Amino acid sequence: MGARWRGGDAGGAAAATAWWWVAAVVLCHLLSSARAGLLETNPGLAYNFYQKSCPSLDSIVRQVTWAQVASNPALPARLLRLHFHDCFVQTCTALVPFFFVQGCDASILLDNAQSEKTAGPNLSVGGYEVIDAIKTQVEQACPGVVSCADILAMAARDAVSYQFKASLWQVETGRRDGPVSLASNTGTLPSPFAGFNGILQSFANRGLNLTDLVALSGAHTIGVASCSSVTPRLFNGNATQVDPLLSAAYAKTLMSSCPNATAPGTVNLDGGTPFKFDSSYYTNVLNKQGTLASDAALAQNAAAAQMVQDLTNPIKFYAAFSMSMKKMGRVDVLTGTKGEIRKQCRKVGS
Ligand code: HEM
Ligand SMILES: *[C@@H]1O[C@H](CO)[C@@H](O)[C@H](O)[C@H]1NC(C)=O
Ligand SMILES: *[C@@H]1O[C@H](CO)[C@@H](O)[C@H](O)[C@H]1NC(C)=O
Ligand SMILES: *[C@@H]1O[C@H](CO)[C@@H](O)[C@H](O)[C@H]1NC(C)=O
Ligand SMILES: *[C@@H]1O[C@H](CO)[C@@H](O)[C@H](O)[C@H]1NC(C)=O
Repeated sequence: MGARWRGGDAGGAAAATAWWWVAAVVLCHLLSSARAGLLETNPGLAYNFYQKSCPSLDSIVRQVTWAQVASNPALPARLLRLHFHDCFVQTCTALVPFFFVQGCDASILLDNAQSEKTAGPNLSVGGYEVIDAIKTQVEQACPGVVSCADILAMAARDAVSYQFKASLWQVETGRRDGPVSLASNTGTLPSPFAGFNGILQSFANRGLNLTDLVALSGAHTIGVASCSSVTPRLFNGNATQVDPLLSAAYAKTLMSSCPNATAPGTVNLDGGTPFKFDSSYYTNVLNKQGTLASDAALAQNAAAAQMVQDLTNPIKFYAAFSMSMKKMGRVDVLTGTKGEIRKQCRKVGS
């Protein structure tokens, strides 16, 4: 099936003018934005879903994840972002009418998921291998029981918890793995250049609201961005042209890592404490030191800016992040007998 969809881009472009195609895609987007609010209703997940079927799951995931994070401090950001992308990437295409919508279903892990694997330089490298390593051990302990989607959600939590030696948020489990991955899916990811209304809309399309947008953006307190995600805020062609929403001093810092419009490197998303999962992201945003245009945009809307101010308090940030991660983890999950439990997270039907 993967091979068939892989050629989907060319086919998609040719068919894009057909009225039924357009209608199906529009319908899909309407349906998905109409779901706002539904994430408060549990879609069939549970804490300790695998308590009986895989009692050693928690300790396996934590142990493997912590061991890997201990030797690679970039991993928490990668795994957290991978989980986010898994939940946000959405299929809206008439080719697969029965899989209109897709959420946290591990489809991002499939080998034909061009999306993540062709993203910025090395940004995702590391995340996939950790999931594979966990899955191998879990399959030995409890074969055919635990979904890749759940392992990804748990690994993201545990990677961040390494710093605290305690979980910042609880993960509901019981997700099943979805079999569809399209190269063209990533259009539903929020663009860092979209502006406030654009990113808010992208969250609304997944049933998440302004509170969730501000809380989850705090994930940018760790990790890196490619220069290409930042240089449009610094240069116009070969000329230096700094985004007025960026402090002059911080623009200089960014330019030391990304000296021109086509520089290949990366910058830290949190210039101060790039490996600490703290609330400094919000202080940065208020101080015109938000790295992405989408970070800076949060200070441009009065209601969002008030929330940003509130979340500079770490206790409030952790509570808000925890609540919104739970909602994000429910986005269009497959439960019950839908989807599959994959043995190899990269292969459909394995
Ligand atoms: C508000 C909308 C968001 C936008 C526009 C956005 C955009 C981006 C961009 C452009 C990058 C850098 C990627 C690159 O340059 O290749 C990035 C990195 C990252 N994002 Fe977001 N993101 C958003 C929300 C989130 C959310 C909700 C999470 C998780 C809960 C998240 C977690 C991360 C992490 C951890 C990184 C660093 C990855 C690494 O270091 O490997 N982001 N994001
Ligand atoms: C990024 O990938 C390239 C080639 O795949 C590799 O040579 C380089 O060491 C990697 N860098 C990091 C920071 O992982
Ligand atoms: C977003 O939803 C949560 C519940 O899921 C609610 O507590 C919060 O007030 C909502 N925020 C906004 C801005 O509507
Ligand atoms: C920018 O500089 C490079 C190298 O100096 C040159 O090749 C390119 O044409 C310049 N681009 C513009 C838009 O001026
Ligand atoms: C841009 O910066 C990189 C270093 O990050 C350098 O290797 C490259 O030659 C520069 N390109 C131009 C056109 O100046």
